[in-house]
Amino acid sequence: MKKLRAKKGDNKEKTYNAFEIFRKSVKYCEGYRLIIVSCVICCAIAAAVGVVIPIVASRIILQITDGLMTQVLYSAFVVMLIHFADAAMRYMRERSLDKLKVGMLFGLQQALVREMLKMEAAEIDKMGTGKIIERLTSDIDKVASIYQDYAFWVAYVVTNAGVLFAVLVLSKEMFYLSLVIAVACFVVSRMRIKRLTNTRKILRASRDERTSMVTEIVRGFRDVKTLNAGEAIARGVGRKVRETSDQEYGIYATNRRFRFLELVVYNSSEFVYLAFGCFLFSQNLLTIPAFIIVYNYLDRIRDLFYGLTQIIDDNEQISISGNRIFEIIENNVYHKEHFGSTKADHLDGDIVFRDVKFSFGKKQIIKGLSLHIKANQKVAIVGKSGAGKTTIMSLLTRIYDADEGDILIDGIPIRELDRDSLRGNISVVTQQPYVFNYSVKDNLRLVKPDAKMSEMREACRLARIDDYIMSLPNKYNTILGEGGVILSGGQKQRIAIARALLMKAKIILFDEATSALDNKTQSEIQEAINNLKGDYTLVIVAHRLSTIIDSDKIFVIEDGALVDSGTHRELLERCSTYKSLYNKDEKEIST
Ligand SMILES: Nc1ncnc2c1ncn2[C@@H]1O[C@H](COP(=O)(O)OP(=O)(O)OP(=O)(O)O)[C@@H](O)[C@H]1O
Ligand SMILES: [Mg+2]
Repeated sequence: MKKLRAKKGDNKEKTYNAFEIFRKSVKYCEGYRLIIVSCVICCAIAAAVGVVIPIVASRIILQITDGLMTQVLYSAFVVMLIHFADAAMRYMRERSLDKLKVGMLFGLQQALVREMLKMEAAEIDKMGTGKIIERLTSDIDKVASIYQDYAFWVAYVVTNAGVLFAVLVLSKEMFYLSLVIAVACFVVSRMRIKRLTNTRKILRASRDERTSMVTEIVRGFRDVKTLNAGEAIARGVGRKVRETSDQEYGIYATNRRFRFLELVVYNSSEFVYLAFGCFLFSQNLLTIPAFIIVYNYLDRIRDLFYGLTQIIDDNEQISISGNRIFEIIENNVYHKEHFGSTKADHLDGDIVFRDVKFSFGKKQIIKGLSLHIKANQKVAIVGKSGAGKTTIMSLLTRIYDADEGDILIDGIPIRELDRDSLRGNISVVTQQPYVFNYSVKDNLRLVKPDAKMSEMREACRLARIDDYIMSLPNKYNTILGEGGVILSGGQKQRIAIARALLMKAKIILFDEATSALDNKTQSEIQEAINNLKGDYTLVIVAHRLSTIIDSDKIFVIEDGALVDSGTHRELLERCSTYKSLYNKDEKEIST
């Protein structure tokens, strides 16, 4: 039996370090090379300034104690100029980093949305909205923003390293002690970061779940209200929020404990530093001016490795967020759709299912389905709720891939067709069509970006929605709200039908396309569908059998398999499943 499932990603979990993430992310920002060069130059100048200022400041102290006021004024003027230079460098650095951030945010978001839309539907179902939203928002934001901190800390460490070098020139002994103090501060900070890394990973996963939950509530808030389930939902959210908050508290607690330890090391170092300085002075190994200068440097020495710790911390965060982004962009973990390379600008629309099997997880839904829909026929697929009708449509558009068997259009296996040939030739009107928060015009142009106004109006007239659109305040420019909130269910379906008609795909699938319509509108749309008869392959899934009795062929599906097929008359005579479906429908219409 032939296996049809599309080729998967290599499914290996690659993890990138912060440097690799930087190299990958920065490419999404246009002109990044120039930005980085200017940033490095600014940082280098800022570092040099950082070393010079304490030297001049110490000189000023000596000049004041010696009463050399003219020189004090001169030195103060030099300090002011140096500060101006520092401010200018800071300004340039920030400007470059802002450009880098905005460029990366935009580029990464675009890439992630594109790649996310290429993921198999089953993967998106499994993943849940939370994981996707968190990656698109906070993870990208983290990766793009963190380089501003990062550059600051790198400049800070470089400046402070320069200070350490200055201490070495002034006193070898003080230099060794400075190294010991800096390393002690670093060890304590490093311990803190190590503890935090694992907790942060768990926290991110937990935030994904929280976002999923909140998104679902916002999406379903109307049902929450009508079910009067607000309290129960609030309790559920409360539990999740509590879990995430507890983890966040854990991070704060770890931070607090280690910060305390850091402060102990940090503060006691001042005493050790001064005491050692006094000892060196008593041994004539340190002069007073040198003592003043090295004392002036103490803060920077202690912060030297604090800056390093911050860099390591930022690295960890870049690495966590960056890997969450690139595991989607680079297809390392999640399966993506793979299309063939056969191009077919024009298809006749002849569809064959040959012994097709498909399961959702372990549950087999389609159980060896074979059927033939001839080009330009109007056919119907009927069956009880849950029989697998929508799934058949999803297999034909490759929203899901069949596990076994063949699906062919015009004799070409659909897995061999490229994306445009397959999806550009099939248009679908689903049970719950999605209408975007764009204008009517833009919603229609999603399927045909260059559609003219006259074409759009014609499609809408056929779908019996033009009159309504023209009655809206901004007509075709009216924004439809999130999920098309300003439209009724029936109006949304009619917009979706107009979209399908505009696309002029050879195969049109109507999945319960008339379910949300009243009888009058339904018969109008029925008329529109019938207008297409003969030129398109029309596949209609309908509960109201009265709407499909004129079909060329009706396929009766039960529990994922074909029970019978034929015209309405033939099936009424010989197929008990069809008869009972039809009788039930008749009864519903008459009551
Ligand atoms: N994404 C999914 N994950 C798991 N199971 C699913 C999924 N979608 C559908 N199913 C299951 O597959 C079976 C067939 O569903 P399908 O939507 O194809 O039925 P249908 O014939 O279109 O029903 P209806 O007439 O109610 O629309 C059902 O048992 C359903 O629970
Ligand atoms: Mg269905």
